[in-house]
Amino acid sequence: MIPVMRPWLGEEEAEAAAEAVASGWIAQGPRVREFEAAFAAAIGAPHAVAVSSCTTALHLAMIVARIGPGDEVVVPSLSFIATANAVRYVGAQPVFADVDLTTQNLTPQTVEPHLTDRTRAVILVDQAGIPADLDAMRTLCDPLHVTVIEDAACAAGSRYRDRPVGAGAALAAFSFHPRKLLTTGEGGMLVTHDGATAARLRRLREHGMDISAADRHLSQQPVIEHYTEVGFNFRMTDIQAAVGQVQLRKLPEMVARRRGLARRYQELLSGTPDLLTSDDPPHGETNYQSFWILLPEKAAVGRDELMRLLADAGISARRGIMAAHLEPAYADARAPLPVTERLTRHSLILPLFHDMTEAQQEHVASVVTSALMNSRPEIPVP
Ligand SMILES: Cc1ncc(COP(=O)(O)O)c(C=O)c1O
Repeated sequence: MIPVMRPWLGEEEAEAAAEAVASGWIAQGPRVREFEAAFAAAIGAPHAVAVSSCTTALHLAMIVARIGPGDEVVVPSLSFIATANAVRYVGAQPVFADVDLTTQNLTPQTVEPHLTDRTRAVILVDQAGIPADLDAMRTLCDPLHVTVIEDAACAAGSRYRDRPVGAGAALAAFSFHPRKLLTTGEGGMLVTHDGATAARLRRLREHGMDISAADRHLSQQPVIEHYTEVGFNFRMTDIQAAVGQVQLRKLPEMVARRRGLARRYQELLSGTPDLLTSDDPPHGETNYQSFWILLPEKAAVGRDELMRLLADAGISARRGIMAAHLEPAYADARAPLPVTERLTRHSLILPLFHDMTEAQQEHVASVVTSALMNSRPEIPVP
């Protein structure tokens, strides 16, 4: 079966993980600190705080943005459910806004009708790696004192204007789940320009302690820690951070490879009328975390049927991005979101992974094009 994604991991990651184990310190420690410094430098932001996932990163982002009961946060429904869940974790109300068809991202036009005097933040998702237009969103939100938090779960290695995604947000959250380019198995990172926010995030991820367990361990003298507020255990381990450091060094090569493969898909699929595919927006470059296609409204086959044909041909595809407002967990938040509904029902994600071969890509493209052009070999009628 051709997988939809396969992480690009090798000997170097295995050795780094083994070294962490051999060091005797496997919980959050020096390797996490080094990974944070390297990640901050790669993004071009002064502070990066490692956590256990992007979900926990978003949860902490809500807390440091002081969002709580009675507040509203505008989010795309078209996102992995963790985006909306983070708002619920702090007792606030997610308000779903529609997205742009070609980028699958929120825009000022889709967000503005949902702003009220209770709106405290917007979570701007760089969906499938495609950078959202952060400056345009801040032009709308900054004068209203609405914080823009970037959910860059999928976007490590993507670029917004001439900088890495995450460099310009008050807070940006990344995921290192294996469906993303840079992986640590599970893991996440928060990036911020504000030192006090970074310090509070470091305490919150570790039970609200005013000194980390690693620093206490290194101290020559006994240290009594204090718990400054109710915190969490959202720590990353040093084994994960060791893998993350290697993956971060490989990230530019991963992005270049994915962009090459995506261009090839675009060429192979270009003869299929009215098929929309992932692409760079005018304001940046995607890392093609997912390569999606949106079927034409009058396609010869439906999305689910096409996924079945792909599976029959040994190809693993995925439905497009989910829509939270259509899930039972958000049954109370139903709203008409026509573009979101079209995207979630009629798009799918094709396989794209670092060591994908030309033959594999041609196979995928030929199943898609022949299904959509309705050119499957006719079974002769006797
Ligand atoms: C947009 C978005 N936000 C948040 C998450 C959650 O990331 P994690 O699995 O690291 O918690 C994901 C994961 O797929 C995602 O795609």
